[in-house]
Amino acid sequence: MAKRENWGSKLGFIMAAAGSAVGLGNIWKFPYTAGENGGGAFVLIYLFFVVVIGFSVMLAEFAVGRRKQLAAVGAFKSEDRRWTFAGALGVLSALLIMGFYPVVGGWSLAYVSKVFTGLLNAPEAIASTFDSFITNPLVPLMWMVAYLILNIVIVVRGISTGIEKAGKVLMPLLFGILIAISIKGLTLPGAMAGMEFLFKPDFSVVDPSVILAALGQAFFSLSLGMGIMITYGSYLPKQENLVSNAAIVTVMDTAVALLAGIAMFPAMFAFGIAPAQGPGLVFVVVPTIFAEMGGVGTIFAALFFIALSVAALTSSVSLLEVVVAYFIDEKGFSRPKAVVVSSSIMVVLCVLASLSLGGVGPKVFGTGAFDIFDLLTDKIFLAFGGFFVSIFAGWKLSKSDLQNEVTNNGSIKFGLFGIWYALVKYIIPLTILWVAFGGIRDGFESGAGPIMIIGLLIIAITAVFSKKL
Ligand code: TRP
Repeated sequence: MAKRENWGSKLGFIMAAAGSAVGLGNIWKFPYTAGENGGGAFVLIYLFFVVVIGFSVMLAEFAVGRRKQLAAVGAFKSEDRRWTFAGALGVLSALLIMGFYPVVGGWSLAYVSKVFTGLLNAPEAIASTFDSFITNPLVPLMWMVAYLILNIVIVVRGISTGIEKAGKVLMPLLFGILIAISIKGLTLPGAMAGMEFLFKPDFSVVDPSVILAALGQAFFSLSLGMGIMITYGSYLPKQENLVSNAAIVTVMDTAVALLAGIAMFPAMFAFGIAPAQGPGLVFVVVPTIFAEMGGVGTIFAALFFIALSVAALTSSVSLLEVVVAYFIDEKGFSRPKAVVVSSSIMVVLCVLASLSLGGVGPKVFGTGAFDIFDLLTDKIFLAFGGFFVSIFAGWKLSKSDLQNEVTNNGSIKFGLFGIWYALVKYIIPLTILWVAFGGIRDGFESGAGPIMIIGLLIIAITAVFSKKL
């Protein structure tokens, strides 16, 4: 077998994996999801899932990928054709996430231009500007297309070099801006109430759907449950330490999410903005923070949205690449053809998602496209993807192979191997089932139940038909 292409450097790998992980999930989704789910208790449960489930599943994905030396679909398929569906489910998840992610990526691009065209001049109008912007049928679509074109350009050229370079510069910039915003926010009068909201758990607000939201957030944010980390792991050299790589990516991703929370909530409470803003949260809070700073504020706000757009891009190219790699590897498409086909499907989904926010377009059980794609992926597909990877690693691969892979044939000490193995084999699959079914039952009250059941049916159908893939 030909030697597989490897990452340019250890830093390059970490940056690419962290670049995939750190994105809208951390800076856009985490704060508003925490806000909608009551704050502290959600954050604590999310952190628990990140450490116990997220890290372990990431390590399992790296190990499976490097063991098999194949991307997601191939890694499952080469072991047992009946497992092809687990990879196929990942391709489907990537398509559906790319059915709304570029919509939000487009908002972020649009806000780079908005901060220069007077957005910050009327702080009281910032919230209504966001609402009228996203419900406008046409303008967000243009930005979404611009955002998708950026993805296409990067992925057509092959993702490795460009993405590695952009990440190395812009991730630190993003980190720096978030720290600056946090300091600014924390010094505002009344800011501490925001820290309390974010970190002081009130378990009386916890119900099964809050727990499922925390699990979904952990998977989404860490880019788990759909084979991206299997694919990235397949490019890792044999002497690399998988355990420490998984730990570094997990810590970086979680640090950015928490930092984004610290950047938003204190300021939000200081300004009297409600925490349950929904998806508009960053787009309202960040401009409001910078509005009172005059000219410098404009520059900071622009830098923030540029960095957010780039963080989003480094994530979405990894999603687009999953679908593209599938068409190249399994269907024999050329790279440009695979990109055109994949992104055409995504444009259609994104148009539906964007229009649904203005109340236009088809609904399923009263839920619009944007929310359907979000619900299906983050509440169902990723969790079940994590479930299947765990079962695959724990039950299909032999324990000694797995141990050799994570310890580099015994040359690396991993004292917690026994615990990790028990987690992957038994505890994580059971926990995911328990959380998912609890959440689905609970979801019926909010009207989300039927969509989740549809998600389960799609998984079942994929399992039946995927042998043809
Ligand atoms: N983790 C990314 C974010 O936080 C989104 C993402 C990229 C993703 N690749 C993924 C989510 C794979 C799930 C699976 O924005």
